[in-house]
Amino acid sequence: MKVTRVVAGAAVAAAVLVSLNATGAPAASTASLPAVPGAVTLESATQARAGADTLRALAKRTGMKIGTAVDMSALANDATYNQHVASEFNSVTAENVMKWSEIEPTRGVLNFAPADQLVAFARANGQSVRGHTLLWHNQLPTWLTEGVASGDIDAAELRKILKQHVFDVAGHFRGKIYQWDVANEVIDDNAQLRDTIWLRELGPGYIADVFRWAHQADPKAKLYINDYNVEGLNAKADAYYALVKQLKADRVPIHGFGMQGHLGVQYGFDGRALQNVQRFEALGLETSFTEVDVRMIMPTDNTKLQAQANGYSILLRACLLAKRCTSFTVWGFTDKYSWVPGVFTGEGAANLLDENYGQKPAYQAVSQTLALAG
Ligand code: XIL
Repeated sequence: MKVTRVVAGAAVAAAVLVSLNATGAPAASTASLPAVPGAVTLESATQARAGADTLRALAKRTGMKIGTAVDMSALANDATYNQHVASEFNSVTAENVMKWSEIEPTRGVLNFAPADQLVAFARANGQSVRGHTLLWHNQLPTWLTEGVASGDIDAAELRKILKQHVFDVAGHFRGKIYQWDVANEVIDDNAQLRDTIWLRELGPGYIADVFRWAHQADPKAKLYINDYNVEGLNAKADAYYALVKQLKADRVPIHGFGMQGHLGVQYGFDGRALQNVQRFEALGLETSFTEVDVRMIMPTDNTKLQAQANGYSILLRACLLAKRCTSFTVWGFTDKYSWVPGVFTGEGAANLLDENYGQKPAYQAVSQTLALAG
């Protein structure tokens, strides 16, 4: 039975709701129809919820974790969203709730409740948690940015505050996070150390410091440096290569290179993602794709959707072919809740599923690539 996407979305939501048993676990389903690219059938979508051919089931055999960023309000308020997070992924990342502005909006008052909810959700669903992020220049609390701007917080105090933050947050989640994005976006688009309060006030040594502190606070977590536009061979990726090499030479506890993977079909894709991954692995690091989405200028059409599927495939294949690419995380999985339209004017449709949870060609490509790799 083929139904239109809008109808399918509503039908799937209803089907998911009725298929939940008392524990919230999906009921078993025997339905087994091949999924049709670009369209969704009630049967195939219901089957996906049941776990027979979910991304996480397919990924399990590859040894690579498949993850998604999680929007906590969608997780609480949208049963279909919640069910997909549980059934399709074996790794989760907090889209926002582990960021500094969320955890410490008032100086000295730490709110871990939403992030703890995600950790509990992951535990209940047998999922691993990526921590995101201990140090960034965005989503900082205003007391911090304003304090630095006004001179109330001087460099010495800022360093103490940063150290405390790393110990507070990495310490709170100690033992529960398998990979931490310790330092996020520290190099700019000209391949220079990014001009931030951290660089200006503390000097370039702040990067080594945060890794050392994070390692003390949570010795088992794999510690990542993470950025966008570093998925191929380019000047920014070269700058990371040099930085990581130096950090390793200085015996800084850095274990992973995270490539966010925010791509856009209008820019084309660098087919050398695997070569890039391999050079970082040769430095002794593991690697991960941490925030993959492939946006397009709206409206969508079949050509763009096929190109999008190709973008996801290039990154996923690089990860699967590499020796130590441990996780592949998408930055949300449905166009219903995406950061893209709010940030990139006129762009959207960046995720694997459409707004009605219908499978796009990108979902099919990811699914098929995982199936072939497993
Ligand atoms: C984004 C979130 O998706 C948005 O909800 C938020 O408003 C801004 O941040 N690189 C990152 C992520 O490392 O933390 C960003 O997430 C997307 C870009």
